[in-house]
Amino acid sequence: MAVDVCDMEIPVYEGLHLPKIPTFLKDPGHTLTSIRDLMLGPDAIILATYPRSGTHWVYEMTEMLLKGKAEYCSNSRETVYLEGFSDLGQMHLYNRVVSTHVPFQWLPKQHVSGCGKIILVIRNPKDTAVSMFKIFNSSGYIKDTSFEDFVHEDFLGPKAMHGGWFEYNKDFLKKAATLKNQMLVIEYEKLKRDTKEELLRLARFLGVKGDNQLIADIEDKCSFNKMKEADKVVRDDNLMAETMRELSLNENVVVYRKGEVGDWKNYFTVALNEEFDKVYMEKMTEIDFIPEYE
Ligand code: A3P
Repeated sequence: MAVDVCDMEIPVYEGLHLPKIPTFLKDPGHTLTSIRDLMLGPDAIILATYPRSGTHWVYEMTEMLLKGKAEYCSNSRETVYLEGFSDLGQMHLYNRVVSTHVPFQWLPKQHVSGCGKIILVIRNPKDTAVSMFKIFNSSGYIKDTSFEDFVHEDFLGPKAMHGGWFEYNKDFLKKAATLKNQMLVIEYEKLKRDTKEELLRLARFLGVKGDNQLIADIEDKCSFNKMKEADKVVRDDNLMAETMRELSLNENVVVYRKGEVGDWKNYFTVALNEEFDKVYMEKMTEIDFIPEYE
């Protein structure tokens, strides 16, 4: 009988708590070091995100800009999810967008030192927490856990995955301040509000021509409802489902849930919100970054 994922030990490597996915469960050290040692192609782009920050959205936009066409990828972002690979051999010299949730220090080092491009997508931590809670619940990754307990134990606590939202993003934001031309920071909320502007900024960063028509078409094709629909019909990828099956989780998880800013207000009590703000102030002191919550 398959072991319930909720009963499995959290994989930990050098104090870093990791998600319970097959590669990390099998050998977290090998998985992380293989990512760090991966040689990507010179034009590869690392899409770095804390989970549930808008990875799929920006992946699609970036691919469309690189292609110069507002056409959906037939392969989902899961097919280039570095920690999903038990063998990264096939990604050797890969020259397009790759996706990862590993902390900065574990990014492919040759890419970082060789001025390879990195995109960070950052989303306000309250909506990120809600989005994580919802997908973990619907997949069966967590069970019988209240939102409040999830926030305390799995989001703010020492067992938060990938070092937790604060450490993860603090580190990336510090690096972004020094790697100015190499890194682009996209805020989920700004992308939602000023999609055109942000797409133009992304196009400039990628060094591609984003004429008005292309930008307008990408904005339209990457709107939440259209991406949600496209996901059901365009993709030919079964990778996520396979991983979910391996862990006896629900395969039909909803990646495209609400796509809104401010849904956190439906989940945070006044007390939890105050506590959360306090933690934010304590943990993000040296960082000049104020998340948008609505
Ligand atoms: P919600 O759960 O709040 O709806 P990731 O891709 O990193 O897993 O992030 C998933 C979150 O991004 C989900 O948030 C999802 O709905 C949202 N999202 C995906 N595509 C989007 C789009 N086109 N516009 C806005 N939000 C989008």
